[in-house]
Amino acid sequence: MKVLSRKAEDYLEAILNITERKGYARIKDIAHELGITPPSVTEMVSKLDKKKLVLYEKYGGVRLTEKGRDIASTVKRRHETFNKFLKIILVPTEIAEKDACILEHHLNSKTIKQFSQFLQFIENEPSYSQFIHQFEKFCEREASSHY
Ligand code: FE2
Repeated sequence: MKVLSRKAEDYLEAILNITERKGYARIKDIAHELGITPPSVTEMVSKLDKKKLVLYEKYGGVRLTEKGRDIASTVKRRHETFNKFLKIILVPTEIAEKDACILEHHLNSKTIKQFSQFLQFIENEPSYSQFIHQFEKFCEREASSHY
């Protein structure tokens, strides 16, 4: 069930990340994290406050409500799954970070679950590191092909 926009989910995820790092999140922290101007952040945070996903105290901080935190944690977990998966298939770190942020919002939760299951499965395979090593070699050989 999809009720929030990608933008709203990104805000909740960013607020969770900042809160975990600093213990609190202010408008300017969120603006910095998302590369958005403070007035736009204030506008979106007010909307999230109306939806009872955050508590916004003017001149204070932005706190996630329990519901907001649940959604943020799900998005963050999805982010980590895709980020990890993309790194395993040797997508450069910066691109993996950005693309994880796209995938985390748009796929069916069943698809995401299978990505996560697959990761758990291969990481526990005894031949995992050998398999990855072979894949690296394969990519080196194929490096000249274009897509
Ligand atoms: Fe993300």
